[in-house]
Amino acid sequence: MQVLVIGQGGREHALAWKLSQSPKVTRVFCAPGNAGTARDVTNVDINPTDVQRLIKFARTERIDLTVVGPEAPLVAGVVDAFEDAGLRVFGPNKAAAQLEGSKAFAKQIMKLAKVPTAEFQTFTDVDDAVRHIEERSIGKLVVKADGLASGKGVYVCDDRDEAIAAVRRIMVDKEFGKAGAQVVIEERLSGQELSVLAIVDGRMIVPLEAAQDHKAAYDGDQGPNTGGMGAYSPTPIAPPEVMDDVVQKVLIPIVHTLRRQGIEYRGVLYAGLMLTAQGPKVLEFNVRLGDPETQPVLMRLKTDLFDLLWAATEGTLREFPALEWDPRPAICVVMASEGYPGEYAKGHAIRGLDDADKLPDTKVFHAGTVQLGDNVVTDGGRVLGVTAIGNDVADAKRRAYEAVKCIRWNGAWCRKDISDKARAYVS
Ligand code: AMP
Ligand code: GLY
Repeated sequence: MQVLVIGQGGREHALAWKLSQSPKVTRVFCAPGNAGTARDVTNVDINPTDVQRLIKFARTERIDLTVVGPEAPLVAGVVDAFEDAGLRVFGPNKAAAQLEGSKAFAKQIMKLAKVPTAEFQTFTDVDDAVRHIEERSIGKLVVKADGLASGKGVYVCDDRDEAIAAVRRIMVDKEFGKAGAQVVIEERLSGQELSVLAIVDGRMIVPLEAAQDHKAAYDGDQGPNTGGMGAYSPTPIAPPEVMDDVVQKVLIPIVHTLRRQGIEYRGVLYAGLMLTAQGPKVLEFNVRLGDPETQPVLMRLKTDLFDLLWAATEGTLREFPALEWDPRPAICVVMASEGYPGEYAKGHAIRGLDDADKLPDTKVFHAGTVQLGDNVVTDGGRVLGVTAIGNDVADAKRRAYEAVKCIRWNGAWCRKDISDKARAYVS
């Protein structure tokens, strides 16, 4: 079987690496991929949103299964286009991808499905939004741009002034362009954050083992929000009763409510949750695997990923055997460019990759890299996801940071406390 992975980040490197381990898979292509995917599989120089070229490639190379990594092509309808062309593809169609493409849509579906989430209101008018904030007795609010904003369109505010400023940045300054034509203003929740990812075939929901991301830039969850600075799996904050709650109160109602709206959900359904004193509440839905959660999760998955995704496209998850996991924990530490999540330079040569990769039970997934002559150079804000598996969380952490120590480039940095939440947690 030949597989095409669309995308170029750490998630896609992990996907391509795992899919290439299947005995059924003869070849994996990654479009456009990065310097890391070039080492493990074959890169194809096609942009993830160039749907017509992707379809042409899939036809000419006789691709048996295409797996879409990032949200942008999903929201743009890449799955619909592949299906219209008679090609097998794993991912939600355009209508289903609205769950991530529009936060207002996601909130409406949650309301219909009675899924626990922060109280909210949506606005298309700046003055209405500002008046709403002024009338609230509590200023601790979260203001979100409706559309896709590469994880940046969310302002967690301490008071009314901050919330009003956020509305103005989104709706007047148009920091996120059209994505900010509408805003969602919601109550600010507190608690630990949890990522639950599930594979869905339209009816059946197969949850993967949970992971915990680290969204803030700096140690101790300080600093600005990022795409994710590291993750580990499994996590003690998601014992079986929490997972059951999430499946019963979140995932099942969402998939069924969408179905009643005429939308069949196939692909990854990712619930970003906050574990509040009242139980798990949804912060957001994503319609693809999490990055960096995918790296530790796939490192632990023993089940053949190709078989699993194939079954999801066939609609046969009901008969699929229970997933098998390496019980040992895995952690992924993101190494980032100086300046990220703000402005950063690209093109720094990276040293020590081979030394890091040689370490046992360790894999360096590339996120923002490109091959330039003999050098692998930085090409993004999040550059590498250094991932290791260990006998316990402390051992996995030690191994991951040992690998991090081998790697250097001008301005490289990472959080030093990835997975400490697991050890700090007392149930
Ligand atoms: P989102 O993209 O909606 O997940 O938001 C990004 C981050 O903002 C989340 O991972 C949380 O850390 C934070 N966040 C979002 N919504 C809320 C909320 N209602 N209360 C507190 N924090 C939130
Ligand atoms: N790690 C957060 C995300 O993938 O959205």
